[in-house]
Amino acid sequence: MARRRASDHPCLVVCPPGLEDLVADELVALGARPERTTRGGVSVGLTTRRLYAANLFLRCATRVLVRVDRFTVRSFADLERRIAAVDWSPWLGADVAPRFRVTTRHSKLWHDGAVAERFAAAFPEVDGADEDADGHRPLVVVRGVDDRFTVSVDASGAPLHERGWRQATAKAPLRESVAAGLLASAGWDPTTPLVDPMCGSGTIAIEAALRSAGVPAAADRHLALWDWPTYEPGTWASVAADAARLRDAAPVPDGSGPPRIVAADRDAGAVEAARANAERAGVADRIEFRVAPVAELRPPEPDPSGGATTGAASGPGLVATNPPWGGRVGGGDLRNLYATLGRVAAERCPGWGIGVLVADRALARQVRPGLGERLHLELGGRSAHWLVGRLPT
Ligand SMILES: C[S@@+](CC[C@H](N)C(=O)[O-])C[C@H]1O[C@@H](n2cnc3c(N)ncnc32)[C@H](O)[C@@H]1O
Repeated sequence: MARRRASDHPCLVVCPPGLEDLVADELVALGARPERTTRGGVSVGLTTRRLYAANLFLRCATRVLVRVDRFTVRSFADLERRIAAVDWSPWLGADVAPRFRVTTRHSKLWHDGAVAERFAAAFPEVDGADEDADGHRPLVVVRGVDDRFTVSVDASGAPLHERGWRQATAKAPLRESVAAGLLASAGWDPTTPLVDPMCGSGTIAIEAALRSAGVPAAADRHLALWDWPTYEPGTWASVAADAARLRDAAPVPDGSGPPRIVAADRDAGAVEAARANAERAGVADRIEFRVAPVAELRPPEPDPSGGATTGAASGPGLVATNPPWGGRVGGGDLRNLYATLGRVAAERCPGWGIGVLVADRALARQVRPGLGERLHLELGGRSAHWLVGRLPT
C-alpha cells in the first residue's frame, strides 16, 4: 500500500447517536470540513495537526478512528491476503499486539470472532506485548458491511468522554460528551450563569465549569496516537500550546465573587459526589454546591463586584437539568416534580433559557409548554429528548 501523506488522514469521529451535527460543528471550528454524517459518526479528512487537535478539543466525541485500509472480501483466503498487505507501520510499533473490535453486517464473512482471529494472526505473539508499560493497548476497529471491510486504528485510546474526573457516581450519570452536547445545543454562553437543580454526580455543572475555565476535553490524559511510530511531538506541542493559550485567556475566579454555576440536588450523597468529582476536575471553585429540593431552585448569588474580576456576565443564564425519568431513577410523583421545576424556574430565573432532558415528552409539557427539541439521543438503550426554551421575563 502506498504510504499515506501525513496531511491526509481519512477519519471517522465516533460520537453518541444524536450528537453528530454538534461534532461536525466542532470539527468546522477546528478548520476541518466534515464530509458525511452517519448515525453515531462523522467522516472527515484531517491533517496531522487537526487530528491531534480533534483528540484534544472535541467535547462531544467518543473517539477518532483513522482509516488504514478498505477492501471487499468474501472468503477467509482473500481476507488473509488483504490483511498481509496492510502497512501498519505508521500506527503500530513492531512489538505491539493490538486489540481488534470487529462488527459485520450482510457479509459472507459474518463471524466476527473468526474475522478478528485472522487479523490477530498477522501479529505474532510477543511476550509482554499486550500492553505497553502504562497499560495501553492499541485498538483496531474492523467493520464489514455488504462484504466491504473498513480497517481503522483508534487515535484516542480511552473514550474521549472520559475526562478523567469521574470516580464518585450518583445514580444514572450522563456521559460527559452528552453533557457537552446539551450545553452546546442550548447555546449556553460560558460567561453566563448556569443552574442544574438535579445535578446527581454533577456532570452538567462540571462540564460547564470546564468550558468556562477553557480546559480542553482531553486535558491531562493519555492519547493512543502518542504511541504511534509516526507521532510528531513538535506538532503536538504546538496544539498543546494553543490549548494553554485558551486556558490562560479564561477568567480565573479570584474568590471575590460567588461562583456562577450552581449544582444542587436534594440528595446530600449526590452533592458530595458532585463536589468530589469537581475537585478532581479542578473546577470546584467555579461551582456552588447546594443540598436542596428543586422547589428551592434559585440563581447564583449576585456578584457584588459586578463580575469584573471573575469574568462573570450579568446576563440571563441557563437552567439545564436531567430530572429522574422514573425507570432509571425511581419513585415519586414525576408530574409534580416536573411542574415544580417549571414553576420555580419561571418565578426565579425570568428571561433565562431552560433545558430539560426527558424520556417522556408528555412529562416535559409539565415543565413548560412549547419547549423545542434540540437533540434526540439514545441513552442506555432509551430514547431521550433534550427540550429547550426560554422562560418568560
Ligand atoms: C438522573 S439523575 C441526574 C444525573 C446527573 N445528570 C448526572 O450526570 O449524574 C436525577 C437526580 O435528580 C435528583 N432529584 C430527584 N428529585 C429531586 C428533587 N425533588 N429535588 C432535587 N433533586 C431531585 C436525584 O437525587 C438525582 O440525583
